[in-house]
Amino acid sequence: MAVLVTGGAGYIGSHTCVELLNAGVDVVIVDNFYNCKKSSIDRIKALTSRDFKWYECDIRDHEGMDAIFKKEKIDSVIHFAGLKAVGESVQKPLEYFDNNVNGTLVLLDVMRNNGCKKIVFSSSATVYGMNNVSPLTEDMQVGGVTNPYGRTKFMIECILQDLYVSDKEWSICLLRYFNPIGAHKSGTMGEDPNGIPNNLMPYITQVAIGKREQLGVFGNDYDTHDGTGVRDYIHVVDLALGHVKAVEKVDGENGLFIYNLGTGKGYSVLDVVKAFEKASGQTIPYQIMPRRAGDIATCYSDPSKALNELGWKAERDIEEMCEDSWRWQSQNPNGYPD
Ligand code: NAD
Ligand code: WQD
Repeated sequence: MAVLVTGGAGYIGSHTCVELLNAGVDVVIVDNFYNCKKSSIDRIKALTSRDFKWYECDIRDHEGMDAIFKKEKIDSVIHFAGLKAVGESVQKPLEYFDNNVNGTLVLLDVMRNNGCKKIVFSSSATVYGMNNVSPLTEDMQVGGVTNPYGRTKFMIECILQDLYVSDKEWSICLLRYFNPIGAHKSGTMGEDPNGIPNNLMPYITQVAIGKREQLGVFGNDYDTHDGTGVRDYIHVVDLALGHVKAVEKVDGENGLFIYNLGTGKGYSVLDVVKAFEKASGQTIPYQIMPRRAGDIATCYSDPSKALNELGWKAERDIEEMCEDSWRWQSQNPNGYPD
């Protein structure tokens, strides 16, 4: 089985490629390297001792994508490629809709023209919006999103659902990720954000390594056990293993499947700071700041549908997530080499 992995050189994509290759699946990576380094490809090869094809191509490049499908025998696609910074999407909505939504339309058209109708899509818990109460289940109403990034995910979910209604030969899996953190156990692969990190864990690890002075904690007056925001952090390797199961699912039967990929447990910002300090032996100075616009108090999954239907559940706990994030950051203070 050969899987085309768009965005396969990025954070979640690279970890997923390792698990696919370890499971004996062939991969072909397509990435435009907008938000990653080419050296992540070498790390995937080194970790798995397997070779594979990769292409520098933008998913919006219809001709380029078509040529890849004509050259490679692709059975299914895992579609990670996209822009993902919530704040930036508010400043650059057109770029986000073009890259994420238009990019997906081009990809789907090329897939259809080449007779490939199996896709696993990187969606997000953000599609549950502001009003649903955790634990979040897949049957809850989605769409109350507050930023262009989240809207691209919601719109792509709608497009894929309409596509399935129009043609039941498709097999489509929407995976709604909660908060991926952690890194490969080897310390050779991890998250490598450009500039100031938007997300909690990369910010913490950069404070620990001395790149940032202190963590700003966005609000301590939420209705949670310590007043700080609660999220469902999931180890990126568990997430990657969820994709191996999802690809088996779309390979085995036609349909439209939706799964939460989370642990079902919520940790506050201060819980994560404490767990990280314990795992790393580093002190993380922090300061309470005003709430961040668009944040909600609590967001965690009910992951039971993925367990029942895919036989998947997250195995790695918050300690392991923190240990692995720290190993990656401390061994690669400047991220991937150029
Ligand atoms: P990432 O930025 O590390 O990976 C995305 C990859 O896609 C990058 O390597 C980038 O260069 C590539 N890319 C972007 N636009 C492209 C295009 N037009 N053509 C070809 N390649 C392109 O991000 P990630 O954290 O690995 O996220 C992967 C996917 O999962 C994204 O779609 C993201 O929205 C989604 N997601 C991420 C999170 C998270 O917290 N990391 C949570 C939920 C969903
Ligand atoms: C987690 C908690 C913050 C940074 C985002 C996207 C979501 C998904 C995952 C892509 C919150 C607090 C954070 C900091 C802080 N991505 N925080 N100081 O906002 O849950 O989700 O990433 O799909 O769509 O919205 O993740 O890591 O930014 O924040 O106090 O410097 O940490 O307020 O409570 P979030 P996050």
